[in-house]
Amino acid sequence: MIDPHNLPKHVAIIMDGNGRWAAQKNLPRIAGHRRGIQSVREIVTFSRKLGIEALTLFAFSNENWNRPAPEISQLMMLLERYLKQELKTMMENEIRFRTIGQIERLPSSVLRMIRSVEEKTEKNKRMTLILALSYGGRAEMVDAVRRMMEEFQEEKISIKDLDETLFSRYLYTQEIPDPDLMIRTSGEVRISNFLLWQLAYTELYFTKTFWPDFRRKDFLLALLDYQGRERRFGLVTEQVSHPGIPRKEGSPGTSVKRLLEDLQGGEEREF
Ligand code: IPE
Ligand code: IPE
Ligand code: MG
Repeated sequence: MIDPHNLPKHVAIIMDGNGRWAAQKNLPRIAGHRRGIQSVREIVTFSRKLGIEALTLFAFSNENWNRPAPEISQLMMLLERYLKQELKTMMENEIRFRTIGQIERLPSSVLRMIRSVEEKTEKNKRMTLILALSYGGRAEMVDAVRRMMEEFQEEKISIKDLDETLFSRYLYTQEIPDPDLMIRTSGEVRISNFLLWQLAYTELYFTKTFWPDFRRKDFLLALLDYQGRERRFGLVTEQVSHPGIPRKEGSPGTSVKRLLEDLQGGEEREF
């Protein structure tokens, strides 16, 4: 049973395993990335239907710039096409789009597309979709410190103002609350420089499923796992409420099977 009142508000995902998915099928890596976009579509619209408030997807890391040039340009092409095609879905579903990362490093046509989608979806309130692009957690912190030092020099802030709240305002994520759940696909059990500051108290979920195979059912399994956790934030059990404790028979909730049945016939368009 999924408890609709104990859903994570913010889910972050390291979408990994596209290349291995393709290799398994003797296909080029790009085929894996292309198929991965179908998972993106499915997880975005499903998250919106479930009422999740923010979804952050790690799509391209700072380190990924070191991949072979042809793979990078194919990824950029897919990204541009995704944004162009998904604007309609974002508007229909009232999804606000934004990015985190050093996006000025992206090709100018992609950058223009990002700005345009950000602008057009700015007023959408039902869910925020955050793409981490050209993103690195360490670079984010260094960028934050640089901006703070500039403002310090300009006497806009003083040392006594510095605390965790102030620091986090200089991060790319700014007003976005920290993720409650972080999912990584493909079997790798590492953070790979993703949201280093923001993941401090996030529940982590790792699955062996490759990203192109990660669909609604897999997402629900991750949510179920999350709902079984007790988030203590350093306290002891007696001090925290018990959303993770299984409810009594007959209490409200939505069965995974029903959710899947309701949502049958989702978008399986070829990209
Ligand atoms: C994730 O899949 C997508 C990106 C990092 C852009 P990978 O391309 O890393 O796939 P694997 O890890 O090689 O299987
Ligand atoms: C992490 O995946 C980045 C993205 C999913 C965009 P990688 O495939 O780049 O991570 P490592 O190199 O295996 O740690
Ligand atoms: Mg990978």
